[in-house]
Amino acid sequence: MSLRIGDTAPDFDADTTEGRINFHKWLGDSWGVLFSHPKDFTPVCTTELGEAARLKPEFDKRDVKIIGLSVDPADSHSKWADDIKETQGHALNFPLIADSDRAVSGLYDMIHPNADNTLTVRSVFIIDPNKKVRLILTYPASTGRNFDELLRVVDSLQLTDKHSVATPVNWKSGQDVIIVPSLNDEAAKQKFPGGWKTVKPYLRVVPQPK
Ligand code: BEZ
Repeated sequence: MSLRIGDTAPDFDADTTEGRINFHKWLGDSWGVLFSHPKDFTPVCTTELGEAARLKPEFDKRDVKIIGLSVDPADSHSKWADDIKETQGHALNFPLIADSDRAVSGLYDMIHPNADNTLTVRSVFIIDPNKKVRLILTYPASTGRNFDELLRVVDSLQLTDKHSVATPVNWKSGQDVIIVPSLNDEAAKQKFPGGWKTVKPYLRVVPQPK
């Protein structure tokens, strides 16, 4: 059965461009973003990995470790890394899993046979410090992902965990947020002593907590 939000992220041992890792140990107490790409030496993937490398400091700030995956071997990943640095201006600064035996792709259902029998699609899993899957995204091979969107989701999830707020449509960091429906007004008073705007009893808007 495929993975769902709330499931524990499957653990695995794998070869990467930074040596062999155990996934859960590598994550430690951090958040994680595990993302697959179809193949080394392909154009869209090259741009994605350059962008992920450029944004790594932003993921670090949020205590998020990022890790890529494709079914190509580690020596291929390492050779391709030179091209990524040359063409995108950012050297690979996070591990890429070499999933030649498709073991991890299988665990995370990253191969969609009706799209391609052997290559991984563009999957993304955001994993929290309890190793729970908090977001699942699947993009086709021909569409590069928006890594700013991944940071936006991390910000939203971390706000939810810390402050019991949800984020509205098209929310950007710094904008107003919504008190989660599970928090009744009595409990909300403790958390938001400055008050909130009640648009409807179920739609209570507050400034983004710090
Ligand atoms: C790419 O990364 O450019 C790509 C990979 C597989 C199919 C189509 C595009």
